[in-house]
Amino acid sequence: MVDVERIMEDTSSGRNTPGWSLRRLHSLDEAQIDELAGVLIDCVEGGASVGFMLPLTRDRAVAFWRRVARGVAAGERALLVAEDADGICGTVQLVLDQPENQPHRADLAKMQVRRRVRRQGLGAALLHAAEATARECGKTLLVLDAVTDGDAARLYERQGWVRVGPIPGYALMPEGGLCSTTVYYRNLQ
Ligand SMILES: CC(C)(COP(=O)(O)OP(=O)(O)OC[C@H]1O[C@@H](n2cnc3c(N)ncnc32)[C@H](O)[C@@H]1OP(=O)(O)O)[C@@H](O)C(=O)NCCC(=O)NCCS
Repeated sequence: MVDVERIMEDTSSGRNTPGWSLRRLHSLDEAQIDELAGVLIDCVEGGASVGFMLPLTRDRAVAFWRRVARGVAAGERALLVAEDADGICGTVQLVLDQPENQPHRADLAKMQVRRRVRRQGLGAALLHAAEATARECGKTLLVLDAVTDGDAARLYERQGWVRVGPIPGYALMPEGGLCSTTVYYRNLQ
């Protein structure tokens, strides 16, 4: 069995990583929802296509995380967060609740790293920890989609995810304008 907590310690204390730590949250309090809303707003204002259009109000961001909190409490989602001295600075989710003919599968979703801590290896650490969490949850196949040729797509390809292919015009960017999305999978067996 993969030791998720150990991987999180390893990834947050490695030689090249700054002072953040990773953990899985099994419930969310109001302060955490507020911090996560801040992460989401920061990413969308930075141009990330993660399901929201600009302007993203705090009320909409908080409402989103309240829905996630309910899914986490119900065991339908696994939620990982990265924290540093200034609070939650990154997050990623696994959608564990799948149709009964796909019990071995999860979707990886809503990978977000605050702009102030990017390009220091946190995205890679979150992805590594999410894969370990998926294994612990009995998942052997992960699926995700990402803006074609974007920062996230490079991250997934670097970490061994298999590119299925692009879907042109899949989603709108936060300021408008359609973008292509590429589907990836990772076999954990
Ligand atoms: C995609 C995202 C999660 C990546 O997070 P990140 O923490 O910057 O990721 P990493 O630091 O692991 O890797 C990013 C880059 O930094 C580089 N890097 C990593 N550690 C580094 C270090 N110590 N020094 C210099 N560069 C480093 C990586 O090689 C990578 O380079 P590349 O973009 O040229 O391929 C982040 O950009 C983000 O949150 N984007 C907005 C939300 C989003 O689009 N989410 C994806 C939804 S599918």
